[in-house]
Amino acid sequence: MNILMASSESLPFSKTGGLADVIFSLSKEFVKLKNNVSIVLPKYKTNKVIKGVKLNKIFQFDVKMNWRIIPTSVYHCYYLGIDFYFIENQKYFERDNLYGYYDDGERFAYFTNAVVKLIASLPYKIDIVHLHDHQVGLLPCVIKTLYSDKEIYKGIKYVLTIHNPEFKGYFSKDSLYDFYNLPINLYNEGKIRLDEQVSTLKAGIVFSDKITTVSPTHAKELLTYEGSKGLNYDLNLRKNDFVGILNGMDNDFFNPRTDTYIYKNYGIKDVLKGKNENKTEFCKKYNLDPKLPLFAIVSRLSSQKGIELLYPMVEFLSYTGGNIALIGSGDKEIEDKFLQLGRVNNKHIFIYIGYNEELAHKVYASSDFLLMPSSFEPCGLSQMIAQKYGSLPIVRKTGGLKDTVNCYDLSDEEKKAKDIIKDGFGFDNYSISEAILTCAKAMNLYNGRKDVYKKMVINAMKLNHTWDESARIYIALYESINK
Ligand code: GLC
Repeated sequence: MNILMASSESLPFSKTGGLADVIFSLSKEFVKLKNNVSIVLPKYKTNKVIKGVKLNKIFQFDVKMNWRIIPTSVYHCYYLGIDFYFIENQKYFERDNLYGYYDDGERFAYFTNAVVKLIASLPYKIDIVHLHDHQVGLLPCVIKTLYSDKEIYKGIKYVLTIHNPEFKGYFSKDSLYDFYNLPINLYNEGKIRLDEQVSTLKAGIVFSDKITTVSPTHAKELLTYEGSKGLNYDLNLRKNDFVGILNGMDNDFFNPRTDTYIYKNYGIKDVLKGKNENKTEFCKKYNLDPKLPLFAIVSRLSSQKGIELLYPMVEFLSYTGGNIALIGSGDKEIEDKFLQLGRVNNKHIFIYIGYNEELAHKVYASSDFLLMPSSFEPCGLSQMIAQKYGSLPIVRKTGGLKDTVNCYDLSDEEKKAKDIIKDGFGFDNYSISEAILTCAKAMNLYNGRKDVYKKMVINAMKLNHTWDESARIYIALYESINK
């Protein structure tokens, strides 16, 4: 099958969050399954340059948005079996950040329109366009409304994956023609209208052939009023075409046996020794006491990540015999508050604001636990990486966290270590007391029941969060519509 992934970011070129990991690892799996896979991305100023990989300019065309005629160049490279296409326009993408600008609606409308043109320029016919999140959500609507008679687009099927339901891609109805050359009746009929605005995400839900999200539990949540972030009505109308498929992780890149970023490699057999050596080095470097349990946070710092719970968890743990290592960046206010916590108790709290892959790997390898009390979590990646490095996740049981962590509970308390099948800790409600209680439970187990703790660490490392099965489920989904 000829598959085109349309996304606003992908490793190894651009990344702000888990979306970038998913696009790249899933595409690599599709290649293994003998598909022809392309990824189309914006050519951002900040795109990473990969040694030995050259980008060639292969197409030039104009993109028309109402009165604007926008000159566009498309660059290409072939990397690890994948055709990468980059849409270049200086006005829209020569900026310091990927997102967060007043004209993001216009920028990604431009990107979407350019992808429509790219599809018609390719030397082969695309079978599936797989859209990711709101940035490209209007694409099937544009093609079905404006180009339904064009041979080149006939037979293409569309799959939309919702990675983050919070972002709807809103803009005002007055811009519908201005950005997408689309008639206002689409809005008036309600097909692309949400909260009295145009929503590109809703348009993706209405016009795609299949809709997915990134874990089975999150799919269930999205169909409820409470858990849907306002999408339950539209998703329920498409219930029969909507499914949750669990993300995997890249087990080659995240492997404590071979990881070149960490202080000391280790495997299941020597895990406690190996982790202890990593922790000792890490703590020496950042002035923490290596005898205490180390709790990691590796996260985007946004309200989705359960910040109201994280502050008290960090305070509680750092004053009751634990150390904290946080790596993350995001909302300025949240960054400042964590920096402040770190200054007040710098003997127990290490804060690194920013994104640093190497340091993140060191933290996964050195830590005993990972904190992830998200308010919602479509899938989540840090908890799976932590498990692979033998760091036990402490999570709120929501979305993908519920699907990937087997949480230690009361019925386990009396069990012998050998009978324990759990690999993390969790709590149900978004409540500070439940979060603190769960931290206390984890700390007690670490200090009092090393046998159980060790068994859980081994269970976690043995988990196999690979992409194999999920990639096959996606392909089966594509095949079900590509007839
Ligand atoms: C978003 C979600 C996260 C998910 C990722 C990749 O960042 O918040 O839960 O793991 O997308 O699908």
